[in-house]
Amino acid sequence: MTMPRTVLRNVARVIDTHLGLDYAPARERDLELRLERVANDMHLASAAAAAEAILTSHDCSELITTLARHLTVGETYFFRDQACFDRLGSEILPALIRTRRNRTRTIRIWSAGCCTGEEAYSVAILLDRLLPDKTNWEIAILATDVNPTFIDKASTGRYTDWSFRSPPPWLRDRYFNKEDDHTYQIRDSIKNMVHFDTLNLVSDSYPSTLNGTQSMDIILCRNVLMYFSLEKVRQIVTRFHLALSNNGIFVASPTESSMPVFGDFLISTRQQTTFFTREPCSPVEDEAVARSPCVSVGDNSRISNPTVPLPRASVNATTASDWSAREPDAPHDARAPIPSEAIDRATRDCDCGRYAEALQTIFTHKLHETGCKSTIRLLVRIYTNQGNLDDAAVWTQRAVEQHKLDPVVHYLQAVVMIESGDCVGAETALKRALFLDAEFIAAHVAMGRVALARNMRTEARRHYRNAVSILEKLPDDDIVPETDDLTAAGLAQTLRWSTSNREKSTVCER
Ligand SMILES: C[S@@+](CC[C@H](N)C(=O)[O-])C[C@H]1O[C@@H](n2cnc3c(N)ncnc32)[C@H](O)[C@@H]1O
Repeated sequence: MTMPRTVLRNVARVIDTHLGLDYAPARERDLELRLERVANDMHLASAAAAAEAILTSHDCSELITTLARHLTVGETYFFRDQACFDRLGSEILPALIRTRRNRTRTIRIWSAGCCTGEEAYSVAILLDRLLPDKTNWEIAILATDVNPTFIDKASTGRYTDWSFRSPPPWLRDRYFNKEDDHTYQIRDSIKNMVHFDTLNLVSDSYPSTLNGTQSMDIILCRNVLMYFSLEKVRQIVTRFHLALSNNGIFVASPTESSMPVFGDFLISTRQQTTFFTREPCSPVEDEAVARSPCVSVGDNSRISNPTVPLPRASVNATTASDWSAREPDAPHDARAPIPSEAIDRATRDCDCGRYAEALQTIFTHKLHETGCKSTIRLLVRIYTNQGNLDDAAVWTQRAVEQHKLDPVVHYLQAVVMIESGDCVGAETALKRALFLDAEFIAAHVAMGRVALARNMRTEARRHYRNAVSILEKLPDDDIVPETDDLTAAGLAQTLRWSTSNREKSTVCER
């Protein structure tokens, strides 16, 4: 070892802060070797120069990208850990499909720390085998990683023998086109099921509708947590808990499953695998959950909660100008709690995934008839989180009809359309929102999401840049409207980071 130990410890601390990766003293030699690679990448003369650049860097997003490219471990293959995929394919997914078949026909899965995509594609293949009527379902498989090089490779879907270390016998013939003796291209029918994006798990950017990390039925984060310090693992697992639907399932690797961080989950060990289920929270937990960041869209009870049919009674017409003037609502009945209390209760129930109760409160107190923005937003959240996009669409349409001049309702309509896969409709709704409020940050970000879904990276970058330039005018701690409590500084950093990664990959594409 040639570098002073104190310098290495300081670099390790910066890495822990930005990426969560744990370079304990025993791994100092490994860290020094990796710093040599960072030095090469940054055109610096030595590992020591790289260390100094890291310790004095002011551009977090650039630093995170560089560190991610050289410090992450890219080890993965199709159907890694057969016991896990056996249980997913024989128990977990069939149960989810059974529950959803006669209801919403939606499934949301997130492969977090997806590396070069083999895990996410393996899940897509499982679903393809379990769902002969796949086209009648809305399947969202999100796959994210902090290393943009991995995400670029995953998006191409081209693999060599190394990714097929213990494949099921049918895998290559059925799901890949052979390009040469050692290269296989995944078929479009599977490729199109997965959406890849960069995301740093050591950030507050999730769960959020802004990047589609909310209301997950299953989160796989396998062979990722083992590289993190225990403190970071705790923070990440807490966020995953919020990102899961009620009864949603978290899957780690067998080694990670014994970490002392899963106290909030129901643990189920079977077929040599341990899965963690998010249970609906109890009333005692209400307050804590209601106060948690980003929780507003992170809870979902698509499996357990009955869907309350949407009452078709018309909402009293209010004009755009009295939309916000009507908040807080006036009491309807002396014996009933004042509607603002009822709205608070319904919001808490929604935060805890008790959608039936939340809807009951709304309709019992006729809150929906007030036409107030917070109620409509709550209804949209409830129905969206239940996967009941039809009713969510009905409510946003009504809101749009009554409050044409309010940018927020157009934005809400776009969110529902994005969830339904209607990019064209979402773009139109977002254009309306931005016409009414050119500084509507969440709408710019959603425009970026829509562009990405259509593979228009340059467009996406432009929208994210617009959002960042508006964010830069706000105080760092300001909460950005419609973003589940994200701060201006936090969102700007995430978008800058995402934009710089996209700039690099666009250059690679050329
Ligand atoms: C060993 S791979 C696991 C791949 C796959 N989940 C599997 O089990 O085969 C670990 C992945 O975690 C990713 N990773 C490490 N730190 C991360 C972070 N802070 N945020 C997101 N991903 C991270 C790495 O880039 C790498 O792709």
